[in-house]
Amino acid sequence: MANVVVIGAQWGDEGKGKVTDLLSRSADVVVRYQGGVNAGHTVVVQGQTFKLHLIPSGILYPDTECIIGSGTVIDPAVLIEELDTIESLGISTKNLLISETAHVTMPYHRLIDQASEERRGSKKIGTTGRGIGPTYADKSERAGIRVLDLMDSEVLQEKLNWTIIQKNVILERLYELPPLDPATVIEQYQCYAERLRPHVVDSSLKIYQAIEQKRNILFEGAQGTLLDLDHGTYPYVTSSNPVAGGACVGAGVGPTMIDRVIGVAKAYTTRVGEGPFPTELDGKLGELLCERGAEFGTTTGRRRRCGWFDAVIGRYAVRINGIDCLAITKLDVLDTIEEINVCVAYEIDGQGCNHFPSSAHRFAQCRPIYKTLPGWQKSTAECRSLEDLPKQALDYLKFLAELMAVPIALVSLGASRDQTIIIEDPIHGPKRALLDANGAPVTSEV
Ligand code: GDP
Ligand code: IMO
Ligand code: MG
Repeated sequence: MANVVVIGAQWGDEGKGKVTDLLSRSADVVVRYQGGVNAGHTVVVQGQTFKLHLIPSGILYPDTECIIGSGTVIDPAVLIEELDTIESLGISTKNLLISETAHVTMPYHRLIDQASEERRGSKKIGTTGRGIGPTYADKSERAGIRVLDLMDSEVLQEKLNWTIIQKNVILERLYELPPLDPATVIEQYQCYAERLRPHVVDSSLKIYQAIEQKRNILFEGAQGTLLDLDHGTYPYVTSSNPVAGGACVGAGVGPTMIDRVIGVAKAYTTRVGEGPFPTELDGKLGELLCERGAEFGTTTGRRRRCGWFDAVIGRYAVRINGIDCLAITKLDVLDTIEEINVCVAYEIDGQGCNHFPSSAHRFAQCRPIYKTLPGWQKSTAECRSLEDLPKQALDYLKFLAELMAVPIALVSLGASRDQTIIIEDPIHGPKRALLDANGAPVTSEV
């Protein structure tokens, strides 16, 4: 039995969906613990693509219980659309459970998110425009609507009648937008409530019971470490805590119940939205990574900014999350590149720097110091074991493991579930992988 957290070690879109789906075969319960419909997790199985925003990536397994936890924010319209799409593909959603204490994204949250971004002009954050920040802001302000409220028609009416009057002042006076009609919003959300009602539960109790029954629980993070509200590149972050610690708060479990943390990182780096990105590539190489990696956002379709692997933020992610082992994804995207750079440290004001600086302003001044490694210029898409990999690709992985000082347990070489090398079972195997922290292959214990 092991309870495992899967987190993004970069700026999101690392391939958490693929890794979670893959590991879900050993899980009884999969829990999303933060974020909302800003997330876009892609799972590809036998040529069929599933794009998930709120539903945990374990949904493709018929016996796996999937829980949308308390720390998430739920846009019911998007969730219902997602449920309909999944069901239309012949996949049952009967095992999907929704936390009664999660907060609900309302139409005014979306409107305020989009309008405030427009007002920020060149200082915008580049949000997904899905109302995430305003929903979490209302939660902190203790002015939010929870799933519990959504389920009680009278409470919903009372709360929305009051809240929409306040929000209309902001919409009309601050943003010069038309006001919302409380009756229309109430009616719409009452309909959503009926559709979602059969799924609503006390999620932390469900999770606790699963733990008592010694079932395997996978906690699926959304976004990534550098987008964390407390530990990311503030203010260019999201409004929740994607880091591993966020799993405890967002799912409602104690830290002693977590056995392992798996960090998912691409073999290079991407970022969507604004904010500093020291290893960003502007020219042809950036375009090549974007094209080969199909780097367009799952949620907004925006082009992702691409750059070399950054081991400074990698080490930071290992520290902040307590990562036990890594899943390196999209190695295949580097297949055609002649020489590959890895950022090993930064230079700032003429001085070397090994640590991620907390200030976004200072971070923007960091210049990457690169180590150049030879590329392999062969396709890795069909490799299914470390022995199949070209020597330079294996050396590249060993170098990353060494720099990050954690073992690599899994390597992904394509979007499909089967395009994966499992070096060590990250859930049931011993707490080390065949590629050890010094990058040396160790003998198999599997
Ligand atoms: P997430 O948000 O972390 O779940 O990641 P996304 O799903 O938003 O973005 C990752 C994208 O890369 C998706 O389109 C995946 O299908 C795709 N992908 C995942 N792993 C690999 C891989 O190893 N190679 C390639 N070429 N694509 C991958
Ligand atoms: P997954 O789970 C990548 C980014 C946005 C923006 C910032 C704040 O698919 O990895 P928000 O709408 O959350 O207020 O936007 O965070 N962002 C993501 N980037 N992947 C994501 O999710 C993201 N979710 C939010 O682009 O820069
Ligand atoms: Mg994504």
